[in-house]
Amino acid sequence: SQNAASVITDPQDQAAIQEAVDQLTAGEAVGIPTETVYGLAANALDPKAVAKIFAAKNRPQDNPLIVHVSSITMLQRILPNHTIPSIYTPIIQKHWPGPLTIIVPTNTTLIPTSITCGQPTVAIRFPSHPVARALIAQCDFPLAAPSANASGKPSTTLASHVYDDLKGRIPLILDGGACDVGVESTVLDGLRQPPAILRPGGVTYESLQVLPGLEGLQVYRKHFVDQQLEQAPTTPGMKYRHYSPEALVVLIENASKESTFEHQWQLELEKRNEKSIRRVGLLLTSSSSTSNGTNNGTSNGTNSSISNKLEEGFTTPQGVTCIPVVMGRTDHPEEVARGVFKGLRYLDTQNVDLIFVQGIPETEEGMAVMNRLRKAASKVIEL
Ligand code: TXA
Ligand code: MG
Repeated sequence: SQNAASVITDPQDQAAIQEAVDQLTAGEAVGIPTETVYGLAANALDPKAVAKIFAAKNRPQDNPLIVHVSSITMLQRILPNHTIPSIYTPIIQKHWPGPLTIIVPTNTTLIPTSITCGQPTVAIRFPSHPVARALIAQCDFPLAAPSANASGKPSTTLASHVYDDLKGRIPLILDGGACDVGVESTVLDGLRQPPAILRPGGVTYESLQVLPGLEGLQVYRKHFVDQQLEQAPTTPGMKYRHYSPEALVVLIENASKESTFEHQWQLELEKRNEKSIRRVGLLLTSSSSTSNGTNNGTSNGTNSSISNKLEEGFTTPQGVTCIPVVMGRTDHPEEVARGVFKGLRYLDTQNVDLIFVQGIPETEEGMAVMNRLRKAASKVIEL
């Protein structure tokens, strides 16, 4: 029921998976691990179950959901004429199971309108996470699953994040450890001409645009914050405020050099000169080869002058406490992707008034990272 206490269970345990299967079969919404971010899953073919997802997240009703399958056969079962559009054949071969979502024509007799929000298409993903796959296979029905965060908050990459946002609203969370990718799946619309990436994610633009059928693949880099695209009817989810921690986020672009970032956030802090700013988070990348990209919020420093003070933070001459958190190495965008949401969420637990974020180049996983950061930011400084 809606008010049941949430339980975090060890998913290696078959009994835990069975408990999740039972809850899902009974029409409940359950927190589940995937390789991208945690999902809030429910039976995609049951409108009442799907409604529980929207209620638990407080998600706007016009933001469509992704349907997750555990096999190509399961996908064919729910499609009109059991047919996957041929444009997707080489793409599926290369990237499924994995962090890629495709847009296909929906089947209005099987897929509830609440999933598609009345659109003629439905978004489908075949996740690679072993727990997600086992769960869907054992349910033997597809699972609708948005990211398992309270609507508007940063996505969740740990079971404890899901608990923080959704405790008391769902009966169960399966703990599958830290998500490997750290940002959501790439949403690819191959039905358009030319095909387009609607949301950059775990599968990179670079790896898609070389595939047959994806010549001329469109991707909206900076234009992701353009009004026109934000409100395009095919991507209704993108018009909402997203990924935002409690603290205001200031994104500093083109500041890969640590000294540039340091100079810029100090300038911005001086400019604000508000007595109310007592604690500041610094979400940065490390140029050091010693960082492993998983140390955000918890552990050891790096060679850099800022990150040496990672554990205890430091105080500026004006008396502002600064808490640096390393997302990953600058030249390893996959590490930054893995650490970005975790870093934003960690800083929220530190009660900072402001978060300065060091942008990274918009290549490979950096494209997804910058897309999320621009949406999280209330101010973007372009150098
Ligand atoms: O990695 C992921 O994709 C995660 C995990 C849990 O699988 N899920 C996820 O779901 O990110 P969500 O609901 O947070 O994001 C779904 C995105 C939204 O931007 C939504 O607008 C878009 O997919 N979407 C869903 N159905 C669509 C459709 N028919 N056409 C275009 N965009 C669609
Ligand atoms: Mg989401």
